[in-house]
Amino acid sequence: MAPLMTLLSLSAAFSSLASSRTIVSQPNGPLGVSLVNMQLVDSSRRDPYSNASERVLPISIISPIGPSASCDQVVQPYMDDTTASYWEKAFTSLYDLSISLNVDIPGQDNIVTYADGSVQYGNSNIVTDAQLTSAVGVRVQDLDFVFKSLSLPSKDLAVGNYLNLATSSAGIFGHSLGGAAALSAIINDKRFLGGADFDGGFDGSPSTVQTNKPFLIFASADHNQSNVPSWPIVWQNLDGWKLQLQLNNSAHGTFFDLPILVELYGIDNIPGAMQGLASVLGTINGTKAMDSIVRVTRAFFQFIFSHGKIDGRSVIDVAKGLEDIIISNGTGV
Ligand SMILES: *[C@@H]1O[C@H](CO)[C@@H](O)[C@H](O)[C@H]1NC(C)=O
Ligand SMILES: *[C@@H]1O[C@H](CO)[C@@H](O)[C@H](O)[C@H]1NC(C)=O
Ligand SMILES: *[C@@H]1O[C@H](CO)[C@@H](O)[C@H](O)[C@H]1NC(C)=O
Ligand SMILES: *[C@@H]1O[C@H](CO)[C@@H](O)[C@H](O)[C@H]1NC(C)=O
Ligand SMILES: *[C@@H]1O[C@H](CO)[C@@H](O)[C@H](O)[C@H]1NC(C)=O
Repeated sequence: MAPLMTLLSLSAAFSSLASSRTIVSQPNGPLGVSLVNMQLVDSSRRDPYSNASERVLPISIISPIGPSASCDQVVQPYMDDTTASYWEKAFTSLYDLSISLNVDIPGQDNIVTYADGSVQYGNSNIVTDAQLTSAVGVRVQDLDFVFKSLSLPSKDLAVGNYLNLATSSAGIFGHSLGGAAALSAIINDKRFLGGADFDGGFDGSPSTVQTNKPFLIFASADHNQSNVPSWPIVWQNLDGWKLQLQLNNSAHGTFFDLPILVELYGIDNIPGAMQGLASVLGTINGTKAMDSIVRVTRAFFQFIFSHGKIDGRSVIDVAKGLEDIIISNGTGV
C-alpha cells in the first residue's frame, strides 16, 4: 500500500455572514469572486522545519468557492515559475518510469515559495508516528495562527473583515496528512463545525478521541477500512453524522489538482504517459473527478453551515447522483 500521508494540503471554508445562498461570503468589491494572496508571519515560534526565527505562512483566500460567482474571466498565473518547474520535473520522472509499479507520490517533497521568491522544500522524511504527530500539530498551530490573524481587525489589511469572513464558524478539509489535521482541528477547536478527509490516514491525529461533529472520509479507489488501519478506529469514534465515500478509478493523487493540470497541459495526449501516472492519479477523467469532489464537498459544507436546517441526507443524495461515487458507509446509508 502506498503511504497515505505524504501529500499535505489543507483548506478551511468559512461560513457566510451575508447570504444564505452562498456558503462562503461574497467579497465586497465589484466582482463576484476574489483571490487574495498574502503571507502571515508568526513571530511567536521558530519554523520547526527550517529553524528560521519565525514561521512564515503564505496563504490564499479565494472567495467565493463554487459556481455562484459571476464575473469577467481574467487569466491569472496558476503557480509561480519555481513551483511549476518543480512539478514539471516530478511529472517527467514519473511518466518516464511508466513500467515501474512502485511510483512514489509527487508531493512527498512538497514545495512552498514565498513572496520574495525564496523556496522551502518539504521534509520527505515525515514517516514515523512521532514525526507525523508533530507534523499534524504544526498544521494545527498554523491554522490557529491564521484564524487569529484573520479575525484581528487591526492586522495589516484586516482582510478578514474586508471579505466578511466569519472566522468564529468554519469548516475544514484536507488531503492526506491534511485530512489528519482536519480531524485534529475539529476535535481541538470549537470554531470548526465539521471536517472532511480526502484519502488521508489518521496517523498523527488523535484517532481514539470521540467527536460528535460531522465528518466525511472521501477515499480513493485504493483505500477502505480494511487496508487503512486508522480508519476503523476513527470511524468508531465518530459519534455524530458521518459518511464514507469512495471515488471510483481514483488514486491518492486524484484529490490534488494534478489530474486537471494533466489535462490542461495535454499530458494525457502523450503516448504512455497516463499508464505511468495511473498509480498516482488513477484512471478517472480529471475534470470529472474534480467536478465530483467539488459537488460532494460543497454539499457537505452547505449541510454543516446550515446548523440543522439542511439534513445530512442531502450530501448522500448528491453523492448518489454522481456516477463515479461509491457510498461505502455512513449515517442513514
Ligand atoms: C535553531 O536556532 C537556534 C538559534 O539560532 C539555535 O539555538 C538552535 O540550536 C537551532 N536548533 C536546531 C535544531 O538547529
Ligand atoms: C478494500 O480494498 C481492498 C483492496 O482494494 C479490496 O480487496 C477489498 O475488497 C476492499 N474491501 C471492501 C470492504 O470494500
Ligand atoms: C464500512 O464499515 C464497516 C464497519 O465499520 C467496515 O467493516 C467496512 O469495511 C466499511 N467499508 C469500507 C468500504 O471501508
Ligand atoms: C467503477 O468503474 C468501472 C469501470 O472502470 C465500472 O465497471 C464499475 O461498475 C464502477 N463501479 C461503480 C460502483 O460504479
Ligand atoms: C474529460 O472530461 C471532460 C469533460 O467531460 C472532457 O471535455 C474531456 O475530453 C475528457 N477527457 C478525456 C481524456 O476523455
